[in-house]
Amino acid sequence: MVRKLLFALAVGSAVLAVSMGTALSAEDERELVEMPAMMQEHMLANMRDHLRAIDKILGHLANADVAAAGKVAESRLGMSSLETHGASHMARFMPEGMAQAGTEMHRAASRFVIVAQDAELATGREAQYEVYRALQAVTSACNACHQAYRIR
Ligand code: HEC
Repeated sequence: MVRKLLFALAVGSAVLAVSMGTALSAEDERELVEMPAMMQEHMLANMRDHLRAIDKILGHLANADVAAAGKVAESRLGMSSLETHGASHMARFMPEGMAQAGTEMHRAASRFVIVAQDAELATGREAQYEVYRALQAVTSACNACHQAYRIR
């Protein structure tokens, strides 16, 4: 009887351990990228500015000001924002895939700028949809990196 009970307990805890293991790994499988504390702060400050920029872009689009949306994208997210973000300095601390994800986001933002400029001249819904698609390519690039990496 005692033996049976012990056996049941052992099986029970093994099942629990396995299911907890999967639950945890399903929660967070991101790769931890370690960097000096100052770099972390710098990167997170950049990130908060990225989100503010997306918010500003959507605000301008809601007011039908595509040109202003494009300007925010270029100066705060696009390839020309790389220097202000100290990107070359940061990239040294990133694994290859993370640096690539960063470049991909900046490229997508610069493509958005071009699409936004084109949309100023074009009329009709299709041009608007192009703008949405180009903006979504930017947020997809944010997500791709967020799903894969963490710094803390
Ligand atoms: C190259 C990778 C990468 C890209 C691209 C990226 N992020 Fe991040 N972001 C991170 C990492 C890593 C963190 C920290 C996550 C953690 O450690 O929990 C982060 C954190 C954040 C945070 C939280 C900041 C804080 O103070 O806690 C915000 C907001 C954010 N990102 C917004 C964005 C937005 C918006 C974009 C796209 C325009 C973006 N990020 C693109 C990697 C990236």
